[in-house]
Amino acid sequence: MRPFKIAVQRAIEEATGKRISLNELTYPPDPKLGDLASRIAFELPGNPKENAEALAKKIKRGGMIKNVKAYGPYLNFFADWDALSKAIVEDALKEGYGKGKQKKEKVMVEFSQPNTHKAFHVGHLRNVCLGDSLVRILRYNGYETIAANYLGDTGTHVAKVLWCLEKFHKGEKPEKNKGRWLGEIYKEAAQKLKENPAYEEEVRNVYKRLFFDKERELVDLWKKTRQWSIEEFDRIYRELGVTFDTVFFESEVEEPGVELVKQLVEKGIAKLDQGAVIVDLKDKGLGVFLLLRSDGTPLYSTKDLYLAKKKFEEYNIDVSIYVVGSEQKLYFKQLFETLRRMGFKQADKCYHLAYELVVLKSGKMKSREGNVILYEDFAKEAIERARKAVEEKNPKLSEEEKQSIAKVVGIGAIKYGMLKVSNNKTIVFDWETALDFNGESAPYIQYAYVRAKHILEKSTKNPKAGALTTESEKNLLKKIGEFPDVLEDAASHYSPHLIANYAYELAYTFNSFYNSEQVIGSDKEEERLALVLSTADTIKACLDLLGIAAPSRM
Ligand code: ARG
Repeated sequence: MRPFKIAVQRAIEEATGKRISLNELTYPPDPKLGDLASRIAFELPGNPKENAEALAKKIKRGGMIKNVKAYGPYLNFFADWDALSKAIVEDALKEGYGKGKQKKEKVMVEFSQPNTHKAFHVGHLRNVCLGDSLVRILRYNGYETIAANYLGDTGTHVAKVLWCLEKFHKGEKPEKNKGRWLGEIYKEAAQKLKENPAYEEEVRNVYKRLFFDKERELVDLWKKTRQWSIEEFDRIYRELGVTFDTVFFESEVEEPGVELVKQLVEKGIAKLDQGAVIVDLKDKGLGVFLLLRSDGTPLYSTKDLYLAKKKFEEYNIDVSIYVVGSEQKLYFKQLFETLRRMGFKQADKCYHLAYELVVLKSGKMKSREGNVILYEDFAKEAIERARKAVEEKNPKLSEEEKQSIAKVVGIGAIKYGMLKVSNNKTIVFDWETALDFNGESAPYIQYAYVRAKHILEKSTKNPKAGALTTESEKNLLKKIGEFPDVLEDAASHYSPHLIANYAYELAYTFNSFYNSEQVIGSDKEEERLALVLSTADTIKACLDLLGIAAPSRM
């Protein structure tokens, strides 16, 4: 609706001298009441109802504006659909439809951040989907964006695994799925420690030998096993089609972190408190932020402080986004406030994109004992289920084709399931819904795309932007016309679910159009083809923004 919004904005400015912003224009509840509504009458001196009536008379008709009517204090605009439909389609067919202008700010999105030596589970999947989609959305909106990962390769979880390997699995080496095997060792270690708390002392000793004494053999084992995890993560990212521009390691920011904390004490930003180092944030209602334990061992926060500094100084970023679970909300408030006290101007542009848990509709998902659904099993199930669905829908396809479509559909389905829900709501994941070809799912959207492409292939005519005026055409045109605004909203609120929801609405509106209007063989074939092409392009753009592949057949 951009072209029409701009026309209305101009007309209002001409009549009142006031320039309203485009998103002040809304859709009337019933299209019979007009195509756009304005509240401008409230903003002018005098009685809103009388203002609206006067303006309805005063505003010039012509161009895209066919008529203006007052409904109480509202001023409603009726579009000349001959002109508007052409303008929307022409817009949508341009390369990079909806792309934002190049922005000056540089953004870093840190996401995924799994811990090495541990399992990669479904909670991690939500994080990856969110972060990856956000990177795509911000880039499309015109921001230079760096996708960063931050691997947790130090800490007690690593010591536990190495302890367990040394004590109970010396010399053992898994043939394949090494990362997964490590995750099992971690589970075993946790179990043994629970049964026998006396082991704690041994784990602490491994920690010291590894990170303080840097015992050669242990360091080698750490590096070797860390690599196993990294290879596993890389395989997952490849399967998901996710890439990073830069990868940080907790181990590289640990020592400089300790140094940095010492400087903060000298500067009076942090202080000693019974041997530990803290920042007192009580005046901000944020309690006390612990930066070093009293025995001098670094913490999660020690590393994050230095990491933030590195991001600002070495990468010159203006905005720093952290995609991390919502249980760390307080922690990030404390971190950002401390960065502010350290004088970083970017501290105000640090943002914690928090997300809630994922639970499976059938069965439990997460517990401390490591009773989690592994990504690998989850993805495998998705692809198997998708394969069955493809088999049913299109049994004539070749085996190879079935398998590749199953992958696109299966991975798409889990990604969409992770993205369609707002980040601050818990996801109740359900296989039936995720793979429902008739519901709010990736396959539904992918299928609409395939159908649109199919129409374009079958026709012998060429798409041509032109007048389209039936109800279902207008509905589809309106939807397509919303895309730039949805993108803008998704980018400014860091909300990929807005794109996910919009993609579904677009697919749905397209299906309604397709069910009520003939394309091939109609006297509007060329114009309708252009509408179908605009739809296909816009669905494709949305899928790209969600990191979901668009199949060519299904
Ligand atoms: N690796 C951490 C974990 O698994 C998350 C790290 C989040 N990022 C950060 N900069 N603190 O809990």
